Amino acid sequence: MARKVAVIGMGHVGSTVAHYIVANGFADDLVLIDTNEAKAKADALDFKDAMANLLFHTNITVNDYGALADTDVIVSAVGNIKLQDNPNADRFAELPFTRKAVADVAAKIKESGFNGKIVVITNPVDVITSLYQEITGLPKEHVIGTGTLLDSARMKRAVADRLHVDPRSVAGYNLGEHGNSQFTAWSTVKVLDQPITKLAKERGLDLDELDKEAKMGGWTVFQGKKYTSYGVATAAVRLVNVILSNALTELPVSNYRDEYGVYLSYPAVVGRDGIVAQSHLDLTDEELAKLQTSANFIKEKYAESLD
Ligand code: 2OP
Repeated sequence: MARKVAVIGMGHVGSTVAHYIVANGFADDLVLIDTNEAKAKADALDFKDAMANLLFHTNITVNDYGALADTDVIVSAVGNIKLQDNPNADRFAELPFTRKAVADVAAKIKESGFNGKIVVITNPVDVITSLYQEITGLPKEHVIGTGTLLDSARMKRAVADRLHVDPRSVAGYNLGEHGNSQFTAWSTVKVLDQPITKLAKERGLDLDELDKEAKMGGWTVFQGKKYTSYGVATAAVRLVNVILSNALTELPVSNYRDEYGVYLSYPAVVGRDGIVAQSHLDLTDEELAKLQTSANFIKEKYAESLD
């Protein structure tokens, strides 16, 4: 069965997602869509120039929403780089642009007869994931935001740096909004099979400092290159692969949680059918309160976005 993926929004993030997919042969068919058709066509030609030196072949289509009908996974990388540079490091600054752009894209996706899964990168991702689901009418489980899969990776990087281990040897999650109301659930974080709370005391780690480093990691990168791309693209492509291969991997992604009535990042098992099962963490009272605060923030901002 051919694996067909579409990337909508061929800016820094979308083109990094597409390159990752082409270079690794993760899809047999790739649809590239952007309002700037010349850019999308140039990216396609550039990828075709790579084919002779690649191990894998990918069939590339440009700006054809009709091609979405039999697409397995769409990655939304729609964004507006100009709005990302704002003083209070707030991803909601993009909402006035992205909610309009996404309304148009989501309507075209619905019209195409698409019946696959959507992986949303577009910020503010939790609200935008909701909008995609509402407008396309796809099941909530089929519309997933990268959310704190990226922030958890940043937390793992920060902890791994301090403890001199591979980030993949750090277990645990950042939860809630992929934004300033997220937090690291330290009760879920383990290294060397030790709770980080125990190791922090032994090694003199400042968990509040690490939490901030994870949360602000995107802005640290942004200050240097005026966008981020590799971290978020890798999170998105991991999700694409987990869906295509039905890996049934538990990941902290933005998914709809009934108890909060909103999309937010919380671990869930992801496979061919999207969100296959939702986890239930044994969080501390303080962590539960932080998660409720984050959920309330997202809900307020979502309501505003509908005005
Ligand atoms: C990030 O934090 C783009 O929101 C994404 O890198």
